[in-house]
Amino acid sequence: MPALQLTDVSKIYGSEEQAVVALDHVNLIVDNDEMLILIGPSGSGKTTLLTVAGALLRPTSGKVQVGGDDITGLSDKRLSTFRRDRVGFVFQSVNLVPFLTAQENLLVVRQFGGARIDRPAKDRADRLLEELGLGGRGKSLPAELSGGQKQRVAIGRALMNEPSLILVDEPTSSLDSELGQQVMDLIRREIKSRGVSAIIVTHDDRVLGYGDRIVRIVDGSLEAGSNTSALTNAASIRWPK
Ligand SMILES: Nc1ncnc2c1ncn2[C@@H]1O[C@H](COP(=O)(O)OP(=O)(O)OP(=O)(O)O)[C@@H](O)[C@H]1O
Ligand SMILES: [Mg+2]
Repeated sequence: MPALQLTDVSKIYGSEEQAVVALDHVNLIVDNDEMLILIGPSGSGKTTLLTVAGALLRPTSGKVQVGGDDITGLSDKRLSTFRRDRVGFVFQSVNLVPFLTAQENLLVVRQFGGARIDRPAKDRADRLLEELGLGGRGKSLPAELSGGQKQRVAIGRALMNEPSLILVDEPTSSLDSELGQQVMDLIRREIKSRGVSAIIVTHDDRVLGYGDRIVRIVDGSLEAGSNTSALTNAASIRWPK
């Protein structure tokens, strides 16, 4: 079963004259263990594709399957359970809970799931923060962190529940190049070590080499994917499969 399969998925916002076709009959398969990079101009439908794939938004038509399960027909309640257990999101606008510390922002997704916040959960949160270059900042509130640091907390939060599908919108936009590389290394490592899969939306050329495949979206339509190597010459960041 592929990690994600979109079959003839369209998303139209609004109606009549105001209608915007954000996704136009999209077909896409993301394999287990695959890191797919999604690129395309502003307004082309990238965020819409992520939110539909992660069950935050229902498509206007078409079918969305995650790990072989058709999620298109699920009730709102089952969709939210599904999201909590199976999908890790990192949004374009980082949405940290302002009155919780960095560590608590990771642990809160455990609580949503009804799981106890025990020592292993805290250890995992601390380990993720450490790996994201935030060791020692676990007790900081979002307001005390820089934009890039907040973004890294959001990445940690997305990885916290060990999701099978990770959806990331512009992970490196506010990170300098060394940090951007560290964050991509971490995402890549999570994906390859756990057999999960990811879609990474980016405008950042340096991110392209981290993907197994690059797909371009224009006006809501996908163009055929290419192997990473055909599109980049970033030999230094080629990875063994
Ligand atoms: N809630 C909404 N209501 C109406 N139109 C929307 C809504 N969200 C997005 N759109 C429109 O749908 C199209 C696709 O938007 P989307 O946010 O998916 O683009 P994007 O590729 O993520 O762009 P960017 O790179 O700027 O983030 C755009 O024309 C946008 O204006
Ligand atoms: Mg977007």
